[in-house]
Amino acid sequence: MVNNKWGHRIIYQIYPRSFKDSNGDGVGDLKGINNELKYLKELGIDAIWLSPIYPSPMHDFGYDISNYRDIDPVFGDLKEFDKLIKKAHSMDIKILMDFVPNHTSTVHPWFQESRESLYNPKRDWYIWRPREAHGKLPNNWLSQFGGPAWKLDPLTGEYYLHTFDASQPDLNWRNPQVADEMLDTMRYWLDKGVDGFRIDVAYLLFKDPFFRDEPLNPSYRSGRDMVYDSLLHIYTSALPETLNMIKTFNRIINEAEDRFMVCEIHAYTSELIKLYKIVDNRGFAPFNFSFISIPWKADEQKKFLDEFDALVGHNYFPTYVLGNHDQPRIATKLGDKAARSAALLQLTLRGTPFIYYGEELGMKNVEIPIEKIRDPMAVNMRNLNFGRDPERGPMQWNKNVFAGFSNSEPWLPLERDYTDKNVFSEKRDPASFLNLYKSIIRARKKLKALHSGKYIPLGFENQDMFGFIREFENEKALILVNFSERAQNIKLPAGKWKPIVSTYMDTFVNIEKDHLHFRPSEGIMFTN
Ligand code: NOJ
Repeated sequence: MVNNKWGHRIIYQIYPRSFKDSNGDGVGDLKGINNELKYLKELGIDAIWLSPIYPSPMHDFGYDISNYRDIDPVFGDLKEFDKLIKKAHSMDIKILMDFVPNHTSTVHPWFQESRESLYNPKRDWYIWRPREAHGKLPNNWLSQFGGPAWKLDPLTGEYYLHTFDASQPDLNWRNPQVADEMLDTMRYWLDKGVDGFRIDVAYLLFKDPFFRDEPLNPSYRSGRDMVYDSLLHIYTSALPETLNMIKTFNRIINEAEDRFMVCEIHAYTSELIKLYKIVDNRGFAPFNFSFISIPWKADEQKKFLDEFDALVGHNYFPTYVLGNHDQPRIATKLGDKAARSAALLQLTLRGTPFIYYGEELGMKNVEIPIEKIRDPMAVNMRNLNFGRDPERGPMQWNKNVFAGFSNSEPWLPLERDYTDKNVFSEKRDPASFLNLYKSIIRARKKLKALHSGKYIPLGFENQDMFGFIREFENEKALILVNFSERAQNIKLPAGKWKPIVSTYMDTFVNIEKDHLHFRPSEGIMFTN
């Protein structure tokens, strides 16, 4: 088995606008993060992934970059970032940056030059197409934020491609100057000491050179799915050139020891597995969003998890995600009890878990009144209710005004339950979400079975139960989860088992002879 440290580390995603505001402008910043590293260390995480902190007009809150080599003043400056890296490293916490290679902001100087004239040296840094007769668009490609992916630029009368908002023009990765510049940018940050990257929409870099129309998706459900999903993206996603470029990114990552990149890729299992094998077994993994996409049912989760672990195999490691800045919060989707069990699974399966800030408190989606909507996706697709503001609410630090996040009004509203669900109160409540996370993480660090053990699937007649064993030499951990909202009984798997954590965070694990009683949605971890 490959000894890849990143296969064991716990990564914590910070959405910097919403984590901690140190200067009272209502927006989180680097100093705020720096001041809270102790909290993260106590939680037990090993690395932080920062959503983008580069200069940006913030139409897409940092995923529209105007300078790849600096820090937006709303977050701090390069000096503050250096301080953060230094302090995090001194505490043995790694730092991953978000790398956004597919598109820039329209205010990036490269695009400003590119749009100036057909002959500008930067013209070919973006994807331009001439205007067709009768105002026809260059082809049928769609933007993920609604509408066509083409926008007519009046300056030169040509269309530019934007897979996201019109303020996010796609770079032309077929131009070697673009690739060189972006690869150099990766090195720039690695030289500053960052430990790697999360690569934004890694599958979309190269587009079909013939600009062919994409075929219709026969499973598209009009009015329910994003209009973007009405096409099959065979000419804009996962092109062989893109896979090659991901390999090149990985080569750069591996120019030094112990670095990592995780790619944002929405794909079927077979494709993810293919990618592991194509790219590397060091310092690379694609995100696996199965907990987000597969219904919370024991049989469906079991089918996926057993198969995925086996397919990924021991030379590679899976990743597990319960939520992020683009997805409704897990405690809102499943409710508190099941969200606790989801955390137990995520933190005890083989591989790298990603905790989205506040998940460890059981934070929920925030209700956003119409006048406070900020997300461009929500603005463009109001009828479909696709907004991502609700999962980006301010971190809940205490029950004071503005939840200890800031001393002025935060950029997004607070969830009403912050007076109960917050770091200060949860530290003092032995049964809190926070203490559950800490207990599981402590066990994960202590038990070799959870750290390096193999994954052994278990089968139950009871359709609501799911479980597995992790085993390393003589040490075992048994994890069992009741997926239903009703109490359940099962026969304990053979062996001598000692309960160490219940998601109810009490000592009422009820074993009668060899029968184990589960409370609604309860998850329990045992050792031998
Ligand atoms: C994926 C990011 O996670 C999302 O927040 C962003 O809007 C798009 N990529 C565009 O960069």
